[in-house]
Amino acid sequence: MCVRFPRLGRLALGLALLVGTLGLGVGPSRAGEEVNVYSTRQAFLIQPLFDAFTERTGIPVNVVFAKEGLIERLRAEGDNSPADLVFTADIGHLTDLVDLDVVQPVSNETLESAIPASFRHPDGKWFGLTLRGRVIYASNERVPPGAVTTYDDLADPRWKGRVCTRRGDHAYQVALLAAMIAEKGEAAARAWLEGVKANLARKPQGNDRAQVKAIKEGQCDLALGNTYYMGKMLEDPEQRAWAEAVTIVFPDQDGAGTHMNLSGVAMTRSAPNRAMAIRLLEFLVSDEAQQMYAEINHEYPIKARVPWSDLLRSWGTFRMDTVDMDAVARHRARALMMVNEVGYNN
Ligand SMILES: [Fe+2]
Repeated sequence: MCVRFPRLGRLALGLALLVGTLGLGVGPSRAGEEVNVYSTRQAFLIQPLFDAFTERTGIPVNVVFAKEGLIERLRAEGDNSPADLVFTADIGHLTDLVDLDVVQPVSNETLESAIPASFRHPDGKWFGLTLRGRVIYASNERVPPGAVTTYDDLADPRWKGRVCTRRGDHAYQVALLAAMIAEKGEAAARAWLEGVKANLARKPQGNDRAQVKAIKEGQCDLALGNTYYMGKMLEDPEQRAWAEAVTIVFPDQDGAGTHMNLSGVAMTRSAPNRAMAIRLLEFLVSDEAQQMYAEINHEYPIKARVPWSDLLRSWGTFRMDTVDMDAVARHRARALMMVNEVGYNN
């Protein structure tokens, strides 16, 4: 069956899609000779990979980029969706794809040997492609080196009024808390969350970068954020000073290791071009693609022994936590409830 993207426009009425119809609907082609992608990841992150894939294989990759609404769109389209693959970031969004039953399992030796088991769905319903650490950003001026080394330090009363975070119900915070529940149990995770709340300098607000800005401006001394934002801030002339006001601390190096999250991909239920889509997935775990994908967004390759970018190397090697992402996914609902029970955002 040949389902073209122009038809999709009518099926997806009412859904606010931002951009993105690179090469869509251009010229006739049969199912099986192209790959159709939905992506919540920005174009600049993944388009270069698709271009490299097309260059090597001759297989065109058509992409719809949208920050919001892609899962709803997949649900609405159901088995008629022209999409083969969906790219998104964070374990929360990958899990939503499974929970809403819009993806199918993939069993593939290349993927399974390249991606550690803890970073892919046990039945192949999603695969991680890049990693990011959730680290502590510490003020260079006001936090002496070595004074903060663990997530627990953020809950220590000696930092009262000196911690900034984004809202507790954001996916990144929920995943960190879910990992703590998985590793230490509910009581310890709750005590930590209450301790961090008691140390907050201000009501949780803003994104990860806004916390670093607040450190630069002296509103707080410690914050939580994803590693790649350091790279993004350094690239931005206005934000460079924020980045330069802080040091990245990789927490829990003598314990469980730094909490990692991921970006990843899943095969849609419909996947009219499944075989070609699998070829694209295999390409994405090649050393070359892994290095490229990770470097563009200052992320860590998910595949072992793929070289890190110079910037990431400059932050140093560190112990990553080994908690299974699927366990993090299972504890998300409980974590979110805990955020509300503790009144973290109030
Ligand atoms: Fe992010």
